[in-house]
Amino acid sequence: MAEAFAVVEIISTKRDRGELSAPQIDWVVDAYTRGVVADEQMSSLLMAILLNGMSMREISRWTDAMINSGERMNWSALTRPTADKHSTGGVGDKITLPLAPLVAACGGAVPQLSGRGLGHTGGTLDKLESIPGWRASLSNDEMLHVLQDCGAVICAAGAGLAPADKKLYALRDVTGTVPAIPLIASSIMSKKIAEGTSALILDVKTGSGAFMSDPAKARELAQVMVALGERAGVKTRALVTAMDVPLGLTAGNALEVRESVEVLAGGGPADIVELTLIMAREMLDAAGIKSSLDPEDALKNGAAMDVWRRMIKAQGGDPDAKLPVAKEQHIFPAPESGEILEMNALSVGLSVWRLGAGRSRQGEAVQAGAGIEIHAKPGEIIKAGQPLFTLHTDEPERFERAMEVLQGAVRISSTGKKVERLPLIIEKITG
Ligand code: URA
Repeated sequence: MAEAFAVVEIISTKRDRGELSAPQIDWVVDAYTRGVVADEQMSSLLMAILLNGMSMREISRWTDAMINSGERMNWSALTRPTADKHSTGGVGDKITLPLAPLVAACGGAVPQLSGRGLGHTGGTLDKLESIPGWRASLSNDEMLHVLQDCGAVICAAGAGLAPADKKLYALRDVTGTVPAIPLIASSIMSKKIAEGTSALILDVKTGSGAFMSDPAKARELAQVMVALGERAGVKTRALVTAMDVPLGLTAGNALEVRESVEVLAGGGPADIVELTLIMAREMLDAAGIKSSLDPEDALKNGAAMDVWRRMIKAQGGDPDAKLPVAKEQHIFPAPESGEILEMNALSVGLSVWRLGAGRSRQGEAVQAGAGIEIHAKPGEIIKAGQPLFTLHTDEPERFERAMEVLQGAVRISSTGKKVERLPLIIEKITG
């Protein structure tokens, strides 16, 4: 059968700053997924989109075309309203782990499809896989059962969900075309809309450790994603939040699970607890759930912990099993005395990655125990020689390169200078 369009004409239109028509977008996304448009042709179109942008109409159609490349999940069998979250990723960002069971404990159903880490930001599935026996891959039926029994499920997206995005994302990754707002927004939102949630809270990170280090760009991305969600009938809100400093006191797979369990036990670092509670309240409100149980109480009285334990068991994990600990530890001492003014999230993330917690190629194995414990954060006083970080890895030859990237990552002053930090919540964007 003859194809409806010639791909070169579509590439040329975008190269010359023109707008693509709806049929052109539908065709090019479908033809690429079918293998009719070649990788080099799609690479060229993606670069033209990165350089010349897309109108909101084009982004919305591109998103629909990616959704239509696969299945749409349906949760109408559930008695509870669905609510989900998505974070654009950061260092020490383990919020999904306590948040999903917390929202379930307060009456929501959380169908969370998560990803694996690439580069310096960790992936939720890699973190949960450090729990002995836990399984990320579930069939749609299994997912529904876990949701019905526990109120929350965290698992990998199946092959049937937005296959066009899977192919496009892999191509973007190797052609320098990831950081384009139309492509990021359509990629994230196609998966979240196809996932079938009725409410969605986006956590768009900004600062050194985020994908969008510039707050103006983070806001623009948030606005586009909220508009895409609302057009698709998903109650969508976004918070632009700080990622200048790592979140919490740990970064690395098993270390982050341990910290999440502390939060579920009613403790944990203040910034993790605060962001988890803010996100939970937004998710419940957006889904129209008037819970008789306040999220803060659900952390204190064990209700969220009960859901966590059921959810981990339902996916084959043992919530009582000892978490993996790296074979080797090394202390990184404070280089001078004074108040900590800055702690660069990107440097900490790169160091965690070099310790073996992250991957540089898709499919690579990660170390469950590798990562960093942070002993003091900006605003705290430290003495020269006191432990600032503890580095963990199974392979001690990794320490040197991991330490290298931490040199200069922390600014300490004894002269009364002020801590320069972004506020935890920078802005809220609603539809
Ligand atoms: N995460 C996604 O799912 N897609 C992107 O394009 C970027 C981050």
